[in-house]
Amino acid sequence: MAADKAVVISPATLSNLGSGFDVFGLALREPFDVIEARRIPEREVIIERIDGRNASTITTDPMHNSAGIAARAVLDRSKADFGVTLTIKKGIRPCSGIGSSGASAAGGACAANALLEVPLSPEEAVYCAARAEGHLSGSYHADNVGPAVMGGFTIIKSYEPFEILRMEPPKDLGVVVTMPDFLVSTGEARKVLPKQVDLKNMVYEVGNASALVLGMCRGDIDLIGRSMRDVVIEPARAPLNPRLREAEAAATKAGAAGAFLGGSGPCVIAVYDMAKNDGKGIAEAVRDIYVNDGIKCDTWVTTWGQGCRRE
Ligand code: HSE
Repeated sequence: MAADKAVVISPATLSNLGSGFDVFGLALREPFDVIEARRIPEREVIIERIDGRNASTITTDPMHNSAGIAARAVLDRSKADFGVTLTIKKGIRPCSGIGSSGASAAGGACAANALLEVPLSPEEAVYCAARAEGHLSGSYHADNVGPAVMGGFTIIKSYEPFEILRMEPPKDLGVVVTMPDFLVSTGEARKVLPKQVDLKNMVYEVGNASALVLGMCRGDIDLIGRSMRDVVIEPARAPLNPRLREAEAAATKAGAAGAFLGGSGPCVIAVYDMAKNDGKGIAEAVRDIYVNDGIKCDTWVTTWGQGCRRE
């Protein structure tokens, strides 16, 4: 007999990792959202409550809320004869660049999935959660919901047909997340992207993305960090976070292996080798760039983590 209630912890995620736009993703150990689903006999999805960070800015309309859309997609795909009520506790601020809507979508999909007699596969849950991302940002991408569901490092090999691959990142891969106190929506950040890519830049991106994957396979954190530079997407988005370049330079000067814009921003992400560095100096150096400009920051000195899990 399947459960009547499931509580799922759904992590923040890094998408792009610089050179892998819409392809690479990494689950973080923290922060995370907590999503609870309860079975109801009516075939409806109802969002009962949203608490936590900037909760008042998030709609409880299940047709426009990422957890609601993803839960609906799971129930429809599995032809479930019941519905769910959802409660959402946001640990991840929306419009941050660390997969806030993706975490809620993944959590909504996985919590609904946990109530099924025959659950969907993780790949199918990712696919359902990505529907929500598509609806909310106007573009179908799965590089946040992929790692939020599956954990570790994920690669979207292809969108049509959908194929996602997962691997375990190096155990000493540390991550510093710096979240400046301003918002950037994914929808807005996608409007500034170039429609075409110069061939020379394409060659550069493929080289870096390939080397980053090799770094993950070899456990070579220096190679991962050196392979994050992106010459297509970040230059277009940099004006949305005017201190980005200084913040990235400060991170590498303080010992980070590499730094990049988290997803569509504004978070700045630095990676470092936990065997050589405790990450605190990197966090301080990036924070100083914003604080000296009068912008408050939240910081997490953390590492990669697992995907959605039952509490
Ligand atoms: N890959 C997406 C982007 C992630 O950069 O627009 C957005 O969260």
